[in-house]
Amino acid sequence: MTGELSPIDKAKFVAAKKAAEYVEDGMRVGLGTGSTAAWLVRCLGEMVRDEGLRIQGVPTSTRTAQLAQEVGIKVVSLDEARWLDVTIDGADEFDRDLNLIKGGGGALLQEKIVATASDQMVVIADVGKEVETLGAFPLPVEVIPFGWQTTQALIEETLVSLDVLGRKSTLRMNNDSPFVTDEGNHILDLHLNRIGDARQMALVLNQMPGVVENGLFIDICDAVVVGFGDGRVEVRDINAGTIEESMLDFAESDNLFADLVD
Ligand code: 5RP
Repeated sequence: MTGELSPIDKAKFVAAKKAAEYVEDGMRVGLGTGSTAAWLVRCLGEMVRDEGLRIQGVPTSTRTAQLAQEVGIKVVSLDEARWLDVTIDGADEFDRDLNLIKGGGGALLQEKIVATASDQMVVIADVGKEVETLGAFPLPVEVIPFGWQTTQALIEETLVSLDVLGRKSTLRMNNDSPFVTDEGNHILDLHLNRIGDARQMALVLNQMPGVVENGLFIDICDAVVVGFGDGRVEVRDINAGTIEESMLDFAESDNLFADLVD
């Protein structure tokens, strides 16, 4: 089955498989959203079924909650879990300081709340997500529907004084209607091309009325597990200052691909 996966999917899978090693029996685990995080959820489901792993999973979206339940992970709310041992999630971009852009899947608000309520946040990503400077990926900003066009105008006006290369923003759509997040909000994607000072950008955006949260994750991620299309994985730990490389054996996980739908 692995032969049918594209190199990017293989890279996502090996990153997820490696990151599953962070999860130990009895842990409370934040479950990210997106195609890479879906691999992680499947890997954990396999560990629950085959190895008797007992964990409580806190999903970051309704999509992830559904998948986690399907694969047999015990799902609890963040309020039930209160504090998590580890959150494992994907990212749209990461830089060398492990600062991130997230929200390509529209789940940035729950993702940031869950990651912040965790002892550790581990990001899983294919190597194509690594950037020198954040901002080529449009920055998602969750805004409340009330007066969203006014909020958009305010954001664009404020961007004039910030170190960016573009100031256009677009309302994210779902076919012909505005995309609606799990919290009933909309998303503005900011086409900045390059964010000179991501920390400042994150602070400025979150001070604006109408903005609920932005997709910049600054000083939240502890480690990134980078996957490559040939099965290599690199674990970069920002706290330990280490980079460990290994190779993953696909054969062990062949049954995971059998019912692949994501
Ligand atoms: C969802 C996210 C995802 O983690 C991000 O978009 C990466 O997704 P994928 O793993 O599918 O590339 O932030 O809100």
